[in-house]
This record gives sequence, structure tokens and C-alpha cells, in this order.
Amino acid sequence: MDHRQHWDAVYRRRGAHDLSWFQPQAETSLRLIQGTGVAAREPLIDVGGGASTLVDGLLRAGHSQLTVLDLSAEALAVTRARLGAAAAGVRWVVADVTQAALPPAGFALWHDRAVFHFLTAAEDRARYRQAVRDAVRPGGHVVIATFAEDGPPACSDLPVMRYDSRALCAELGPGFTLRHSERQVHTTPTGAAQNFTWCVLQRSADAPVTGPGTDPSASRQAPSR
Ligand SMILES: C[S@@+](CC[C@H](N)C(=O)[O-])C[C@H]1O[C@@H](n2cnc3c(N)ncnc32)[C@H](O)[C@@H]1O
Repeated sequence: MDHRQHWDAVYRRRGAHDLSWFQPQAETSLRLIQGTGVAAREPLIDVGGGASTLVDGLLRAGHSQLTVLDLSAEALAVTRARLGAAAAGVRWVVADVTQAALPPAGFALWHDRAVFHFLTAAEDRARYRQAVRDAVRPGGHVVIATFAEDGPPACSDLPVMRYDSRALCAELGPGFTLRHSERQVHTTPTGAAQNFTWCVLQRSADAPVTGPGTDPSASRQAPSR
């Protein structure tokens, strides 16, 4: 079974409320996203958004340019059904984040809760890193959460990587500045405690715009005086 089939089966087998990562409100995400100062009209992407209610909260807060990406079409179907008519105002992308064709510098904010930690192969993490660099506009933000260094070693029958804020920041590489980090204890629907690391990073304002169809050498040269 490949990863897509795995995740589709997970969402077919269990209701969203029974998944270990379920939270009724995406409170930490919403607070950290608002803390970046991103405007409601700016484009945001939730990668591996699954059945999360983050998109509901962002729509309620007035955000109008939302993209939710997930490997699992089943997961996105759950979220779309829950949102009803409001789903029409969101862009839905079924794709692997490490292979998705995203618009260069297309997003002011990239959100990822509990997705990056599933990338256990170095080459997948390198592709993710490139995807963030290409998709987040200069000066934009990344809000990312993974299992903490003392969090669970696996989730949904898959092994995960675990990070403290320093290691997570290092994974995204140069070009990002850590603006904030915190630890959070998530309580699963069965009452288990899971330690998470959250980081808010900002892409350098003078970072080159990269990605398909761009010319990094031409796009961000300092103006001559
Ligand atoms: C633990 S769940 C978290 C879901 C959501 N972010 C939340 O906080 O409720 C992980 C999600 O990542 C998705 N996923 C896993 N690997 C992925 C990949 N390579 N690309 C895109 N989505 C992926 C899964 O389908 C699943 O919805």
C-alpha cells in the first residue's frame, strides 16, 4: 500500500473526531497565524490539511485566499462536506507536498501541522524544503508543528521524525528566521498526551523568487544606486 492509499484508508476507516490528531478548534494554529500579521486578503496554504477545522476558522476570520492541500482525496472530501457551500471559496489540491506544482512565491503563509514529521527520508525532506522556498514569498511566514523530541515515535502506524525548535528550524535551512517557538501538549480523543514543537519562521525579505518559470539570478537583484 502506498502512502496515498494508506491515508485514504485511514480517513475511510475512522471518523475525523476519532483520529488521534483531531482537535475541535485549531486554536494554536489560528493564534500563531494571526500573530504573523498576515492580512485576510493574502494567500495562505495549509499543507496536509486533512480533515482539520483550521480552514473553517480561517474562513470565519475573513481569510479569502485559502488553499488546502493533502495527499488524501478522502480527507479533503470530509472537510469539503463539512464546509458545505463555503467550500467553493477554497482551492483544494490533492497532491504530495513534496511533488506538488505550487505557484512560485504564491503564498504569504505556509501552515503545516503534523505533516513534515512523516518525511523520514532525507530526499523527501529536501524536496519539502525546496517546495517551501519556492512557494513562500519573500517576507512570508511558515507556521509548522511536528512531534517534539519527546513526542510519540509513530503516528497512524507510520514512523515519524521528532524535532525540537532548533532542529526544526535547521531543517528548513538558511533563508528563514525563527520568530517564535513553543511546545504544546495535544490531548488525543482517547486522552493520550502528545508533545508538539511549534515554530513560526519568516522567509527573508530579500530572498530570491525561485521555482518553475522563474530566474533566480534576475528576480531579486539589489537596485543599483
Ligand atoms: C496527522 S494528519 C494531520 C492533519 C491536519 N494537518 C491536522 O492538523 O488535523 C497528517 C495529514 O498529512 C497528510 N499527508 C501525509 N503525507 C503527505 C504528503 N506527503 N503530502 C501531502 N499530505 C500528506 C495526510 O493525508 C494527513 O491528512
